[in-house]
Amino acid sequence: MKIAIDGPAAAGKTTLAKRLAQALGFLFVPTGAMYRAAALAYRRGLPLEEVEITVGEDGQIFLNGEDVTPLLSNPELDELSSRLAADARVRARLVDLQRKIAAGRDVVMEGRDIGTVVLPDAELKIFLWATLEERARRRHREQGGSFTEVLEAIRRRDERDSTRSCSPLRPAPDAVVVDTTDKTPEEVLEMVLRLVEERRARLAN
Ligand code: DC
Repeated sequence: MKIAIDGPAAAGKTTLAKRLAQALGFLFVPTGAMYRAAALAYRRGLPLEEVEITVGEDGQIFLNGEDVTPLLSNPELDELSSRLAADARVRARLVDLQRKIAAGRDVVMEGRDIGTVVLPDAELKIFLWATLEERARRRHREQGGSFTEVLEAIRRRDERDSTRSCSPLRPAPDAVVVDTTDKTPEEVLEMVLRLVEERRARLAN
């Protein structure tokens, strides 16, 4: 079974996808972290052709064999990864890699274009959403700094991720939209686990 989780920045995709994968025994694939690793490679001056990104069994990201996971939440990579993600060459490379990772396995893959482009045949597609203010509150709790700046940075990224010509962020027509604004991560996980069970029952019939 393949599960696609898409949505805007700081909607809780990584938290949900990681817990869901753990609960189901599926591979967790954080594609946002792959774009962040591509941004790190760009900052290090590596040409795209020399960039190899792999995903570990616990969602770790390896850049040319180096575990770069702890470096990827750096807010400096927020903006750069979003800009690089609008580049068709970068997307083609990463989408190809993501499809290979998911081939023949049970996965929970999170990102922006998983249900629309990477895994259009995923058995369950979730579009995770929360208001801009709530997402800014969550990111601010993690990062600190100025709340207004955090909110503005998310707004800019939402705008770029949703309006780019190449695979813009949007819910797949068959995605279930889950509003997490007033929900705890546990409530969201329970709700999505119920959707997984429903989907499994339907597939079994
Ligand atoms: O989810 P994130 O904030 O770690 O993602 C970083 C950037 O990568 C985000 O601004 C948009 C881009 N991205 C994308 O375009 N497609 C994906 N499947 C995942 C992320």
